Amino acid sequence: MVFIMDRVGILVVCYGSRGVAIVDSFSRSQNYATEIYVIDKQRNPYNVKKAKKHVVIPDFDVEKICKFAKKHERMIDFGIVGPEKPIINGVRDVVERETEIPMICPTREYAIEGSKVAQRRLFQRVVPEANPSFRVFDPKDYSTLSKVKRNLNVWLDELNNKVAIKPDRPAAGKGVGVWGDHFNTREQLLEHFLSNYEYGAVIVEKKVDGEESSFQAFCDGKHLAPLPETRDYKRAFDEDKGPNTGGMGSYKDVSDWLPFMTPADKEKEIQIVNKIFKKLKGKGSNPGLRGVPFYEAFIHTGRGPKILENNSRPGDPEIQNLLPILKDDFVDVCFRILDGNLRRVRFEKRATVVTYMAPPNYGGFKNVFPERVNSSEIDKPVDLSGAYGLTKKYEERVRIYPGSMELRDDGQTYALDSRTLCAVGIGENIENARENSLDGLRAVKGGALWFRADIASRDHITKSMEHMKRLRSQW
Ligand code: GLY
Repeated sequence: MVFIMDRVGILVVCYGSRGVAIVDSFSRSQNYATEIYVIDKQRNPYNVKKAKKHVVIPDFDVEKICKFAKKHERMIDFGIVGPEKPIINGVRDVVERETEIPMICPTREYAIEGSKVAQRRLFQRVVPEANPSFRVFDPKDYSTLSKVKRNLNVWLDELNNKVAIKPDRPAAGKGVGVWGDHFNTREQLLEHFLSNYEYGAVIVEKKVDGEESSFQAFCDGKHLAPLPETRDYKRAFDEDKGPNTGGMGSYKDVSDWLPFMTPADKEKEIQIVNKIFKKLKGKGSNPGLRGVPFYEAFIHTGRGPKILENNSRPGDPEIQNLLPILKDDFVDVCFRILDGNLRRVRFEKRATVVTYMAPPNYGGFKNVFPERVNSSEIDKPVDLSGAYGLTKKYEERVRIYPGSMELRDDGQTYALDSRTLCAVGIGENIENARENSLDGLRAVKGGALWFRADIASRDHITKSMEHMKRLRSQW
């Protein structure tokens, strides 16, 4: 008997390695013959190869996205969106209004990533125990700079300068500044504050001492299906030095929580996010929340987890830790999200480590470590063939996901400005997964690329565990 698989057309709006991980998961479907329609920021070499149709819309303008979706409407069963910009700008509302394509991502109204001020106010009403103390400084409320500075100084005196400064609008982590990390004097703090304040409202909140983790959940509007916890490495260089980046790597343990957490910490996170979900959902269901409306950056303190921020999309690199070990077929997961019957998602009990490679200018690497840059390789093609070869050799325990890379007319692939590619290592424990990830990166040739060598290292994780132990013992 010949078994013919159902054909499924999927629209993927994406950029970077996160988008490639999504495309990879769909193209590995065992239950469906997938045809993928990709809207990308550039000609990503992996997506160009895998897509039925591939189009570049660098600014992710929602009208242009909708036009492409409309053109292929008959062939597309559903769409999914990775990056925040089109989600916040209402891509779901527009595509669902203009076409019959159901989209997996929150509607504009429920993309709460769009305003950190609105998030903090919501959390204050619903989960005050998880919200650090904060004040909002909005240019609309102050007629002069001296008035805002006066109020800011009162607040800084109260918190002894130990604050985090965050712009209201998402700035890819770039506007965030933390006392002791990004500034050490009140003058520097004020300078950082003003560089954000000139563009709009700024939050100044109490700096929280703890260990960070990333919570993500799929949502069908009716249920939350929490995903295993991951840890992101935001700072550019080893030992958490250098500027904030989009994330230089991340890890996931075999269990659903991290080595420095307890199962009760994970339960507490789920309770917190469920309270927020129920508040937004109301009675019954709210399909506006479809997708990953709650990717929560938590910080674990001696007194339980606090929320650093909420994103309305999958994390990059955190979702790359999870999709390669998804036990369920990702297409079925998406259909269940659309049908409103996704209660849980199953993963293999394995550890994963994601390590990113970046070009010399990223995070200012070239200026800080000029001796580590092979200048003859700059702007030369990046050859991934050896790294791809490892995927087979390592029986799928290494995945190579090109990110900010471009396939050019000469048939070669080049690194652009942002994170170039990531290697996902899968293993029976974190150490083993880390080795696999690093082996993947060591097989990449060209482009003068660099990476953080301490992602998920035993030393880094031990420090996190000891830090948590100290924090817990203080309470
Ligand atoms: N991992 C950081 C982010 O996705 O925003």
